Amino acid sequence: MAILRLLLELFLLGSAWKPLSCLDLLMTTDICPQIPDNGSAPLIVNVHVFVSNVFDVDILQYTVSSSMLLKMSWFDPKLSWHENTYPRNFITLSSDLLWTPDLTIQEALWVDWREQSPRARISREGFVELYAALTTRTNCDFELLRFPSDKSDCSISFYAFSNTAEELRFHPHAVNEIVSVKREYTVRGLKAQVPHQQLVPCFQVTLSLENTAVKTTMALVVPGVAVLLADVCGSLLPLKATERISYKVTLLLSYLVFHSSLVQALPSSSSCSPLLISYFTLLLILLSLSTMETVLMYGLLARGNFSPKISPNPAPRQEGLDTTNAGPRYEEPQRTTEEQRKTWVEAMDHIFLLTYVAIIGCSQIIFVIVWVWWECKSDPPPAKNIPHGGKPKI
Ligand SMILES: *[C@@H]1O[C@H](CO)[C@@H](O)[C@H](O)[C@H]1NC(C)=O
Repeated sequence: MAILRLLLELFLLGSAWKPLSCLDLLMTTDICPQIPDNGSAPLIVNVHVFVSNVFDVDILQYTVSSSMLLKMSWFDPKLSWHENTYPRNFITLSSDLLWTPDLTIQEALWVDWREQSPRARISREGFVELYAALTTRTNCDFELLRFPSDKSDCSISFYAFSNTAEELRFHPHAVNEIVSVKREYTVRGLKAQVPHQQLVPCFQVTLSLENTAVKTTMALVVPGVAVLLADVCGSLLPLKATERISYKVTLLLSYLVFHSSLVQALPSSSSCSPLLISYFTLLLILLSLSTMETVLMYGLLARGNFSPKISPNPAPRQEGLDTTNAGPRYEEPQRTTEEQRKTWVEAMDHIFLLTYVAIIGCSQIIFVIVWVWWECKSDPPPAKNIPHGGKPKI
């Protein structure tokens, strides 16, 4: 009798350990929940996207970090119950026990879902409500042509790859819940839509970002213009003063240091690079031109001074050696040629200053015109010709 019982127990244990296929489970219990059936029409899942923060906009890396809360709700008549069987109006269940849409973000570098299996709230009628909070860092193609007053649209696309568009459709709504205002980039608009012609159910949240430009204007534009003005003022120093050369060279050197740090601070791109880079390069060219002019004019003057024919420098020594030896006779024509040369060089310097100011004025006006009117179309993305959507073909 005992042997018989042992055999029976062993048999039962063996049958319990036998792996059951999911289909068996599906037939007997509800461990493998499937998407609620809606006949020939797809199941409608309403999604409310509450965007609570956009906390890091990195233009050098082309990424945006944001945190949001998804409220998904759908109707599953199979989950309803009668008042007589269970008196409560709502129950909560772990989402592992239910079918839930599994979402993948296309642009994400990383996603952090706050809870792996959040609890779902089910009403007696079979209405399911599920909240999922996430933080994500996504890629965004910023339009930086007009940096630092740039505006860009960044989209975050959610795909449910385990269902087809015939089974499931999203109805998304975006809700702006951003309360922090202390940001360099502010969110000017927020919308959610379903892209057309998708084979996989999906919805897209678009953030419209705008740069407030305060930091960049303070840190880049103001010093750049200040250096240019200082250079113009430096040109007013007399040409003979050696301070003018050292002033200009110091200015050029400091601008070079500023320029290299600025180029590192600005992002680059294959198309539509920031206009500001061209502007600062133009400033660099103008400053070098002005420094070269000062050196050249100073050189011309000095040449005149040291040249043996017209130079007055050897003359005093000759004068000192033999004062009676017709010194004053040569002095007169020498002085006049020297003065002529001096006035000529000074006139040239004056003309250069006027031209320089005119060039600066014109270049600023041209830059403003280009800034306002220039349109730049980014190159089409490499995948432009491939129809959008579809499961990844591995
Ligand atoms: C089923 O499909 C119809 C038609 O598209 C839709 O109006 C209805 O809301 C859907 N039902 C569910 C439960 O999604």
